[in-house]
Amino acid sequence: MQYSKKVLDHFTRPHNQGVIKNASGVGMVGNPVCGDLMKIYIKVKQDKEKGDVIKDIKFETLGCASAIATSSMVTDLAMGKTIEQALKITRNDVADALEGLPPIKMHCSNLADEALHEAIKDYQSKLTN
Ligand code: FES
Repeated sequence: MQYSKKVLDHFTRPHNQGVIKNASGVGMVGNPVCGDLMKIYIKVKQDKEKGDVIKDIKFETLGCASAIATSSMVTDLAMGKTIEQALKITRNDVADALEGLPPIKMHCSNLADEALHEAIKDYQSKLTN
């Protein structure tokens, strides 16, 4: 199986790995195909001009090299984005930013956008409660 250089970079030196205490939102998803787990924490702050902005984001992932690399990349893509922009990040955006994933590993990228979107939903549900 051939991994891109970007995947190997993010797998061996993941960005934004860890936990955010008092996170604004937390999303956790599991991959039914392999049982791997990904958890994403976001810290959202109000920006006068932009609105709700993801000021910090971290992940904890129990999974394969592609799951770690996609976690790292989705946190890079979402950092500094508004909630609306972050909701538009798709698994294909993550895979493209990693210069592709081997075809049998594409399912691993499902976790990344789902965990991000779950964390945003969690944040939004707290606003309305
Ligand atoms: Fe489980 Fe990749 S094999 S996420």
